Order: sequence, then structure tokens, then C-alpha cells
Amino acid sequence: MTDTLSTLQNHRSIRKFTDEPVPQEHLEAYIRAGQAAATSSFIQATTVIQVNAQDQREQMAEWAGNQAYIVSAPVFLVFCADMRRHELVCDMHQAEMLSGFTEQFMTATIDVALFAQNVVVAAEADGLGICYIGGLRNNPDKVSTALELPELVYPVFGLCIGHPDQNPEVKPRLPLSVVLKQDRYEDGADADTIRDYDAAVWHYYETRTGGNKSMTWSEQISGMLKKEARPHMLPFLQQRGFLRR
Ligand SMILES: Cc1cc2nc3c(=O)[nH]c(=O)nc-3n(C[C@H](O)[C@H](O)[C@H](O)COP(=O)(O)O)c2cc1C
Repeated sequence: MTDTLSTLQNHRSIRKFTDEPVPQEHLEAYIRAGQAAATSSFIQATTVIQVNAQDQREQMAEWAGNQAYIVSAPVFLVFCADMRRHELVCDMHQAEMLSGFTEQFMTATIDVALFAQNVVVAAEADGLGICYIGGLRNNPDKVSTALELPELVYPVFGLCIGHPDQNPEVKPRLPLSVVLKQDRYEDGADADTIRDYDAAVWHYYETRTGGNKSMTWSEQISGMLKKEARPHMLPFLQQRGFLRR
């Protein structure tokens, strides 16, 4: 396996970090790797906010549902989808920007995800561990106020980076036949395949948590999807200038 494939296939989220700092010049190299990702129509709609202040980290940890590693990680970043600078450049050319389109929300959000994953791969290739923090979207308005985000900018997720102080097993993914289809969408065999996969995930949780969590993938996902999913997001995004049409 090439080094790149091996880095990618050995990913696992890290939630416990050593105190060893991440040199700022290394972090900036990872951010440049993020900037090198493909970007829809060259739109470059990502802004990253590095959160350093202890009190701000503590607030974010609480708003994200008491995720302590937001405080203990050597680096904590907030990835924002940003259409604000596009308004600035339209102003430079006396063009009135037509904002609020769903397509613009999608391209900006996709840009952020591609950028962030490049940062993740660069950091992991250097032996660091990461954990994405979608929990920031529990309280996106508080996060936006704390970071002084203007209209047309929203926090998509956070990212902890640091030297791992744990070595969790790689979490098994769905079998390839469920995610890779040939020529058309054919899911006739998927339910049976997922039942087999459930057994693998159950075993993973049993061994990783010492029996504290016994759950299959389908139990976990069905339990999550029978609940509402952050229904505050649509009005929040509309208030920030996204998803209005
Ligand atoms: C966008 C995104 C948001 C996530 N948010 C959180 C989070 O708030 N807290 C957390 O502990 N893990 C979070 N995760 C990590 C996932 O739980 C994890 O990637 C998934 O369970 C698979 O495990 P693995 O990364 O160890 O392979 C997030 C992952 C992604 C991609």
C-alpha cells in the first residue's frame, strides 16, 4: 500500500491528546494543503478561525455538548463557509451580488469539507490525530457571535488537532458492495450485507469499549434518525443569508 493509502485507511478520530504543541509553521502548511483542494468555480469559500483563548475554548466545548477535547487539543480550528468576501469583490466591480441561493450554500459548504479533509490528511500523514466537531452546530448562533462572524459566514464544524494520547482501533466501514454500484442503483442485497456488517460493528464496540457500548451500526443510525436533526439550522442559516431561495 502506498503511504497515502495507508494514511487514509488508518484514520481514526482521536479524542485524547498529549500536551506536545503543534508548531504553527506545521499548522500553516496543513492549511495551505487545505487551500490546494479543488474549489467549485474557484470560489474559495473557506475561512478557518484558529481558536486559542482558553475561555473561548471552554465556551465552545460547553456549547458543543461538553466535549472536553476542544479545550485540551493543542489546536482547535473552526471551519466556516464564507460568501462574505464574494460580496466584497462584487462591490469592487459595482456588481450587486445575488445571494441566498441553495446552490451557493452547497458550493460553499462542499468547499469547506474538501479543504478541511485535506488539512486532516496532511496532519495525519505527519502522525497527528484529529477529531471533527459537528457539535458546534448545537449552538451555531453563540459560536457565530463569539467569533464575530458577519452575515454570509457560518460555522460548519470544528477540528481538534494534536499528538494522539490514545490508539483506538480503526472503525470498520460499510462493505464496498453497499457503497460502490456498477452502472445503476441496485440495493437488493444491501439489507443482508448490512446485517453482516452490523456484527462487525458490534464486535468493534465490544472490544473498543470493554463491553460498555454494545451496539450495531443499524441500531445506532436508526436511533439517531428517529430524532429531529438540529431543526434550528434552517432558520439560523437563513438568518445568516443562506438558503433563502
Ligand atoms: C463533520 C463531522 C462532525 C463530527 N462531529 C463530531 C463531534 O462533534 N464529536 C466527536 O467526538 N466526533 C465527531 N465526529 C467524528 C465521527 O464521530 C467519526 O468520524 C465517526 O464516528 C467515524 O469514526 P472514525 O473517525 O474514528 O473512523 C465528526 C465527524 C465529522 C465528519
